[in-house]
Amino acid sequence: MTYFPISIPFVAYCLCLCVCYTQARLHHHLHHNHLDHENKHMHLLLSPSYPPYKCNGDGIFDVREFGAIGDGIEDDTNAFKEAWDCACQSQSQSQSQTNSPILLVPHGYSFIIQFTMFTGPCQSPIIIQVDGTLMAPDGPKSWSKNNIHRWLVFYRIDHLTIKGKGLIDGRGQQWWNLPCQPHKAMRFLMCTNLTLQEFKIKDSPHFNLRFDRCISVHIESIFIVAPASSPNTDGIHIENTKDVQIYNSIISNGDDCVSIGTGCYDVEVKNITCLHGHGISIGSLGIHNSHALVSNITVSDSTIKHTKNGVRIKTWQGGYGAVNQVTYNNILMENVRNPIIIDQFYCPTKQCSNQTSAVEIYDVKYNNIKGTYNVRSPPVHIGCSNQTPCRNIILSKVELFPVKGQPALDAFCWNAFTETETITVPPIHCSLDKTL
Ligand SMILES: *[C@@H]1O[C@H](CO)[C@@H](O)[C@H](O)[C@H]1NC(C)=O
Ligand SMILES: *[C@@H]1O[C@H](CO)[C@@H](O)[C@H](O)[C@H]1NC(C)=O
Ligand SMILES: *[C@@H]1O[C@H](CO)[C@@H](O)[C@H](O)[C@H]1NC(C)=O
Ligand SMILES: *[C@@H]1O[C@H](CO)[C@@H](O)[C@H](O)[C@H]1NC(C)=O
Repeated sequence: MTYFPISIPFVAYCLCLCVCYTQARLHHHLHHNHLDHENKHMHLLLSPSYPPYKCNGDGIFDVREFGAIGDGIEDDTNAFKEAWDCACQSQSQSQSQTNSPILLVPHGYSFIIQFTMFTGPCQSPIIIQVDGTLMAPDGPKSWSKNNIHRWLVFYRIDHLTIKGKGLIDGRGQQWWNLPCQPHKAMRFLMCTNLTLQEFKIKDSPHFNLRFDRCISVHIESIFIVAPASSPNTDGIHIENTKDVQIYNSIISNGDDCVSIGTGCYDVEVKNITCLHGHGISIGSLGIHNSHALVSNITVSDSTIKHTKNGVRIKTWQGGYGAVNQVTYNNILMENVRNPIIIDQFYCPTKQCSNQTSAVEIYDVKYNNIKGTYNVRSPPVHIGCSNQTPCRNIILSKVELFPVKGQPALDAFCWNAFTETETITVPPIHCSLDKTL
């Protein structure tokens, strides 16, 4: 995400807004409590065979069987919670996925769901089959009290698969103009053996997918979309997460396409398309003199179009730790402002003082990076810290041309040991003398 300076007035404004919403919602809640109650009562009378919902069945837990309406108006949160509890407690007959309990979000329905925490561990591998639409409440006023900071949270689950041709609709429009966009669409904490496949996520109020302290995450064929102008709608953010594959996906948004934070290693990003937004980022790392480690990251066979950056590594001054073993392979750039960028002076406020320590950057390889750039800044920018130069930066088959009719720009380089294995366009002559 883009870092915004946090000032006291800003925090105060944010707090005040949140309090305001809480009050608005409280009022709303009190007003509707009676109605809610009446609805439940009616429901009981009309469908005596349903509640109390039993956890029996054939391993398919259709949220409608738990009272979800799916008309895009009613709040279906409780049905999801009950369906999850049953599915999670259910034991599959074998370890094979074909027998895993399935929480089914059926096609043809739109379910409104408030903040929900899907908590493990579960009895067996579990599938959430999203064939229909899952919608967030429509804007701050409809958001449930106390929980505007979270929406769909998945916690401590092993072997969770979320798949299907459906849609997760974050309905972020009303949040984007506010100084705080408090919640992400989907957040995964301490999950292991996680698979996300096929579905689409749109208009998250903030990050679309965020992973913290997860192990073994496989993302495939998903589609993330938010307007180019939507702030902080990062596509996929991972942090302290290892063994990650992100394949065959399309991300069109207003901030980083994929961002990789500290503590991530063994990450493979392959065949993805990034549109608008800020490209694929490692960092920012080392904020407030913190320690950061990122290692063994490969990005390959991908297309980056009309973005602010292509492939970027950004660190704040004053941090420590390292970024190493990074490979960018076969990347097509189309009209990207900064296709290749290493920035060890990351400072969006422009008010950072020079510091002596830095998160070290070494063993970074760029191979077959081709396409066009927009000439507002150099196509290759390698800006490394004064005390800790970047080492072993290898560029091969880099060919970047200005968008038609624009003048070509030189590469920018500061304090880096680079090596070019082929002729590059633009030429990169910025290597420090290795005898220094
Ligand atoms: C992930 O699944 C594998 C194979 O089923 C299992 O051995 C491993 O323990 C799981 N990982 C974690 C961190 O639970
Ligand atoms: C790459 O991903 C796209 C979806 O963005 C898919 O249509 C295509 O088949 C994938 N290519 C390969 C080689 O898997
Ligand atoms: C780097 O990560 C890949 C998976 O993306 C893994 O197969 C490989 O073993 C890792 N390499 C090292 C040196 O750990
Ligand atoms: C920080 O270092 C850079 C590079 O050496 C230099 O251009 C800049 O003037 C310095 N800034 C301050 C505030 O000393």
